[in-house]
Amino acid sequence: MTQQVQGVVAPGKNEPVRVETVLVPDPGPGEAVVKIQACGVCHTDLHYKQGGINDDYPFLLGHEAAGIVESVGEDVTEVTPGDFVILNWRAVCGRCRSCLRGRPQYCFDTHNAQQKMTLLDGTELSPALGIGAFAEKTLVAAGQCTKVDPSVSPAVAGLLGCGVMAGIGAALNTGQVGRGDSVAVIGCGGVGDAAVVGARLAGAAKIIAVDIDDRKLETARTMGATHTVNSRSTDPVEAIRELTGGHGADVVIEAVGRPETYKQAFYARDLAGTVVLVGVPTPDMRLDLPLIDVFGRGGALKSSWYGDCLPSRDFPMLIDLHQQGRIDLAAFVTETIGLGDIEKAFARMHEGDVLRSVVEFS
Ligand code: APR
Ligand code: ZN
Ligand code: ZN
Repeated sequence: MTQQVQGVVAPGKNEPVRVETVLVPDPGPGEAVVKIQACGVCHTDLHYKQGGINDDYPFLLGHEAAGIVESVGEDVTEVTPGDFVILNWRAVCGRCRSCLRGRPQYCFDTHNAQQKMTLLDGTELSPALGIGAFAEKTLVAAGQCTKVDPSVSPAVAGLLGCGVMAGIGAALNTGQVGRGDSVAVIGCGGVGDAAVVGARLAGAAKIIAVDIDDRKLETARTMGATHTVNSRSTDPVEAIRELTGGHGADVVIEAVGRPETYKQAFYARDLAGTVVLVGVPTPDMRLDLPLIDVFGRGGALKSSWYGDCLPSRDFPMLIDLHQQGRIDLAAFVTETIGLGDIEKAFARMHEGDVLRSVVEFS
């Protein structure tokens, strides 16, 4: 039976978000309905509201979430009702050319629920990243549910659904940071700080955090940065080179998504080093680099999609490491808020006050 729940909807470009009644159909084949327990507020939600992703309004926002599977449709074997899951936006298909070559972490054909959630008048909603979890319940593809240890708090678990996984994965999966490496992270918001956590976990010897905001640098230190550079007052390329014997870092992770910070990352790495772009640029941005430098400096220039994560491999592992105290995911939860507080959370995000505001459902 179709259920009525409360959800946060972005009705149109730059219009304030509203809490609306959302109709959630019963799960069809391959689908699951999940009772959401917590969902973090991410920049991508704000980008949806502002029209930066596409024009398919109205959007059902929210995508960094954890909850309990309530019901599943026919043929669903991945999860059963009662499972505690993190929602992911990489439901691996198993059949595309990337999956068939043994690279499911890049799956080119990820899927979402087939049925649509709607408003009371029947208007179809576009769920953010195919999830739509600022809602008491949401309908997803069963492959978007990844079962993890249920003893972790939902507010913490949900973080792995997007930004924190992107940052940790940028260091571990994309950057392949190894024991003893020097790592620099440019931009220390939630994603950059998660990259710092990932670099520490991997055994990096030196972790240099770069930001234009001293508050962010202080937090980055608590996450594991060994050195900090305020790039508003100091040339970050010079500073990173100085801190690495004049050479540059083995891996530089760009977590802002701008041409100027990408260039800093490019020149702040050692010869044959790796640049990882995990910050998301806008379509109008252009990069101008001397091609001879691209050649002459060697190494790898990589982009990190969702931390190149494989949810079934990475989510349970990171939750286990958190539970063992080897990483502190709780440090990313700045505040917990209610469903009606999303606009306030967007404003705080804009001010740079929070790593993550997380909506908790009772
Ligand atoms: N140089 C260094 N740091 C910068 C610069 C700059 N020119 N401009 C902004 N920053 C810092 C900000 O001070 C902030 O600490 O980058 C950080 C960005 O953090 P958030 O705004 O919290 O964003 P976050 O959630 O971490 O995401 C970062 O990754 O997933 C993408 O879309 C996301 O592009 C965004 C990026
Ligand atoms: Zn695939
Ligand atoms: Zn996100």
